[in-house]
Amino acid sequence: MRVLVIGGTEFVGLHLVRALLRDGHHVVVLNRGRRPERLPTGVGTLLCDRKDHAALRATLAGERVDALVDIAYAPTTGADVEAVLEALAGRLGHALFVSTGRVYDHALPIPYSEATPRNLHWGEYAKNKIAGEDALMRWHHARGLPVTIVRPTHVYGPMNTRNNETFVFDRLVRGRPVLLPGAGGWLRQFGHVEDLADALAAMLGVAAAFGHAYNVTGEEAITQVGFVELIADVVKRPPTLVHVDTPPGGTPVPFGQNLVYDCHAVYTTTKVRRELGIRPRYTLAAGLAQTFEWYLREGLDRREIDFAAEDRHLR
Ligand SMILES: NC(=O)c1ccc[n+]([C@@H]2O[C@H](COP(=O)([O-])OP(=O)(O)OC[C@H]3O[C@@H](n4cnc5c(N)ncnc54)[C@H](OP(=O)(O)O)[C@@H]3O)[C@@H](O)[C@H]2O)c1
Repeated sequence: MRVLVIGGTEFVGLHLVRALLRDGHHVVVLNRGRRPERLPTGVGTLLCDRKDHAALRATLAGERVDALVDIAYAPTTGADVEAVLEALAGRLGHALFVSTGRVYDHALPIPYSEATPRNLHWGEYAKNKIAGEDALMRWHHARGLPVTIVRPTHVYGPMNTRNNETFVFDRLVRGRPVLLPGAGGWLRQFGHVEDLADALAAMLGVAAAFGHAYNVTGEEAITQVGFVELIADVVKRPPTLVHVDTPPGGTPVPFGQNLVYDCHAVYTTTKVRRELGIRPRYTLAAGLAQTFEWYLREGLDRREIDFAAEDRHLR
């Protein structure tokens, strides 16, 4: 297949490009060209800012693709998603959109399934992703375009642009305590980036997936404190945990890049398993071990980190 990836030079997009090449697809990426050196040889590049719809139309004029995977969050609005579909109208086989589990109303009981009502619990990000999803579904219902929506949750793995598992690695390898917001008892669910890339690749052109949304993430829910303890087991460093309560109206202690929030985040993956036979390869422990190998290979255990704010909390 000829597959167009919007993005492709960072975390999720780059892992997808690798998975597509492995599967024998012809891959073209569209981005602003900031990191061309990252792309494997053989990948075609279209340069443009997706927010500039006139440039997007000109860049995609005459392009014909079997599948589109819209990944880059720029921040991408419904109108931006619509602009890509419009620019490829009549020359696109299947559109996949990487949305997020954060479209669900997180005030409702867990776990969240694809049938859970969506709302703006997560603000602007949820608003944009819901609008992107709705743009796809409009094209599906009104114009018969095959579309699929994928909703990941916390994605982790090598090259992660979110400082989550690396945040914990950074402290454990230096023998530093890990500060936890309060009891650290909120549940989180992580999905390995290669499993997400493989799931997207496996859905291309699959008729059973047309018109559907799927949660795609790992199978294990784990508390914030459990996440630190699991990483400590994996990297074989004893953890020192310091629970810090947040004063009313105060700011919680830093804990990962986006792991501090006061609700559970747990999702079912039954639909994607049952309907498409897609399930993750990585357990959380195995994925964290593989990510820690990458962290060491990259020398991130030697990077400079300013712990002054944490030291103030500890004092
Ligand atoms: N990480 C998570 O835990 C998580 C969870 C749920 C959902 N998601 C979703 O997963 C996706 C993450 O994708 P990602 O890791 O590949 O990173 P990303 O930050 O969404 O996208 C980065 C890629 O997009 C390109 N890009 C950025 N701005 C652009 C623009 N204005 N026009 C054209 N290209 C642009 C970048 O290249 P240039 O800079 O060269 O343009 C780069 O290739 C997002 O949709 C996110 O919402 C992530």
